Amino acid sequence: MRTLTLGTSGPVTSALGLGCMGMSALYGEADRGESIATIHAALDAGVTLLDTGDFYAMGHNEMLIGEALRSAPAAAREQALTSVKFGALRDPDGGWSGYDGRPAAVKNFAAYSLQRLGVDHIDVYRIARIDPDVPIEETVGAIAELVQAGHVRHIGLSEVGAATLRRAAAVAPICDVQIEYSLISRGIEDEILPTASELGIGVTAYGVLSRGLISGHFSRERQLTAGDFRGMSPRFQGENLQHNLDLVEALRKVAEQKGVTVAQTAIAWVLAQGPRHHAAIVPLVGARRRDRLAEALGALEVELGAADLAAIEAAVPAGAAAGDRYPQAQMAHLDSER
Ligand SMILES: NC(=O)c1ccc[n+]([C@@H]2O[C@H](COP(=O)([O-])OP(=O)(O)OC[C@H]3O[C@@H](n4cnc5c(N)ncnc54)[C@H](OP(=O)(O)O)[C@@H]3O)[C@@H](O)[C@H]2O)c1
Repeated sequence: MRTLTLGTSGPVTSALGLGCMGMSALYGEADRGESIATIHAALDAGVTLLDTGDFYAMGHNEMLIGEALRSAPAAAREQALTSVKFGALRDPDGGWSGYDGRPAAVKNFAAYSLQRLGVDHIDVYRIARIDPDVPIEETVGAIAELVQAGHVRHIGLSEVGAATLRRAAAVAPICDVQIEYSLISRGIEDEILPTASELGIGVTAYGVLSRGLISGHFSRERQLTAGDFRGMSPRFQGENLQHNLDLVEALRKVAEQKGVTVAQTAIAWVLAQGPRHHAAIVPLVGARRRDRLAEALGALEVELGAADLAAIEAAVPAGAAAGDRYPQAQMAHLDSER
């Protein structure tokens, strides 16, 4: 497994991370046994970075990861890095009610996460969305105190813009910003990515397959269950969906010429952006099954030269996607989109 350092202050991580969200929430039903087997298969393949959020099914995802870590071989468990998001407030009906980044709340969230994960420290800790009522300096300052106390190793950020990156980095070393980045979500290239690169902050890229949309496995016939994020995402609706799936078919032609899959092409494209933008970029793939994980890992073997990159970007030009990456109400929480 290739490794890289996540930002100048961060840990050494596998070049590909596993995002565990879909094993608990937001993409419909997931199979618990298969989810744990997928985490074990990832660790076995040398994937060390496991990403979660305490609000993914209200602690369910952390407990799942905790169970997978406990039942993994000791060597794999010791190498695993936990990347945890906090701050999103939920209610018993599964609703979302804002963000809390107050220092006392940060420490409270961390105390519960450590228990649920069954670990003595969290490797990277980050607020999922900034709390508009709490300056980022205070939230990051509270995580820095957790670092001092040994409960957290590194500080990350999520979906923040360049100005927030600078403010946070002035308080304490920031190892990475977690943000959506894919062939059809290239907004970070204008300002956020150059700023991260300048400040020595890495990027953990999510939505690399645009939540399955550009995986090559999604179709108009796919039935989404209630609560599936994709049922509300503008990119998955009506004419937008058809337009976006047409882009996938153009990408499929390029992938077939290379003898790889669409998903591998999309992941390999993100892997290729790190050197291009002088930044440490780690794709977090959201595989929930071992077969999907195996496909994703295959992307590490795909070499994309200048002609390949040009062909991919001709098939899916920057800005070609139809629809925003989040519903309007959720776009409003994105500091990165201001
Ligand atoms: N910081 C943030 O705001 C934020 C937001 C969202 C996610 N995240 C993190 O990023 C992680 C990844 O995000 P994501 O789940 O949206 O990523 P993704 O990799 O773009 O999408 C994952 C979905 O793609 C489909 N898929 C098809 N082929 C695949 C393959 N070969 N490998 C992997 N997935 C394949 C799967 O859907 P089916 O299983 O339905 O086929 C899977 O659920 C999450 O798990 C979470 O940890 C962070």
